[in-house]
Amino acid sequence: MKSITTFLKRCISTGFRRWHSTGKLTSTSPEELAHFNALASSWWDVNGPQRILHKMNLLRMDFIYSTIREHLKLNPPDCPEEDKVYIPPYSVDLLPEPIKRQIVWEQDMRRDEILSQKKLKVLDVGCGGGILSESMARSSFVDDVMGIDLSSEVLQAAKIHQQKDPMLSENNGKLDYQLTAIEDLPKSETYDIITMFEMLEHVDYPSKVLTEGLQRLNVGGWLFLSTINRDFVSWFTTIFMGEHVLRIVPVGTHTLEKYINQQEIRDWISEDPQRLRSYEVVDTKGTVYLPAYGWKFTSNPNVGNYFMALRRVK
Ligand SMILES: C[S@@+](CC[C@H](N)C(=O)[O-])C[C@H]1O[C@@H](n2cnc3c(N)ncnc32)[C@H](O)[C@@H]1O
Repeated sequence: MKSITTFLKRCISTGFRRWHSTGKLTSTSPEELAHFNALASSWWDVNGPQRILHKMNLLRMDFIYSTIREHLKLNPPDCPEEDKVYIPPYSVDLLPEPIKRQIVWEQDMRRDEILSQKKLKVLDVGCGGGILSESMARSSFVDDVMGIDLSSEVLQAAKIHQQKDPMLSENNGKLDYQLTAIEDLPKSETYDIITMFEMLEHVDYPSKVLTEGLQRLNVGGWLFLSTINRDFVSWFTTIFMGEHVLRIVPVGTHTLEKYINQQEIRDWISEDPQRLRSYEVVDTKGTVYLPAYGWKFTSNPNVGNYFMALRRVK
């Protein structure tokens, strides 16, 4: 009984304290850094301790790509009438199949055309060994990726791996890594996409890191993140099963108190009028890792792991 009460206290109390801290740091603890430094040499072993991140990569690239694609403005204000694609004011599913197919095809073509002209600038915060940074840098709509992390050994692994692909090697200039905290990047440097995947649950004050990220977004820019709700299912899957039983990730990777409910991020955006005017939570998707299958989306973003897309609207 006592252990259940302790568990509930860990779930309930810590999130509030961490979100409302007035601390200034966006840093992480020496223990967390030591943990990631020790994993540096095996970061790119797709069957090694970071295999869960490798397996997550396709799903997160899909989330980023499809969210951006879905929200493209198909008919910009200066688009001549004859070039406009038809956007029905009702669901295309209500239309006869051949007409629906034609409309969807035209919209898809326009999306491809708009995306092919984009040259987006990306900041990958807590990039680790660069699994996501590299995939972003290979995307046709991305022009420049900066990966930042606080672990020098992990960044070293990222730089070594980058050299294996001539398209990404340092003198190509599309992908760079820097050992820095986000707060130390100049505020004048802004980005179209900022990513914080699997890192907020490792920092002491996640709202500080999010604030620093949101402040560096261009208007219309995106912040994509993934982290873990603080609940029994998360504890059972990520700590008990993931670390202690199946040994999918090393013991000590996660700390329940550092998990963040997706609703806490939504409430944090809403509680400040300035933030609420400027940023919107566009989508949250629950995710789950099934050992024999890999990662997949779930129907409930309030339980376990999740992806979130935030956008700067003004
Ligand atoms: C679980 S790894 C995720 C790596 C990468 N984002 C991915 O998903 O492939 C977490 C990374 O966040 C980094 N990290 C933790 N706190 C950080 C902070 N405050 N600023 C920058 N990086 C941080 C760690 O050093 C580690 O490399």
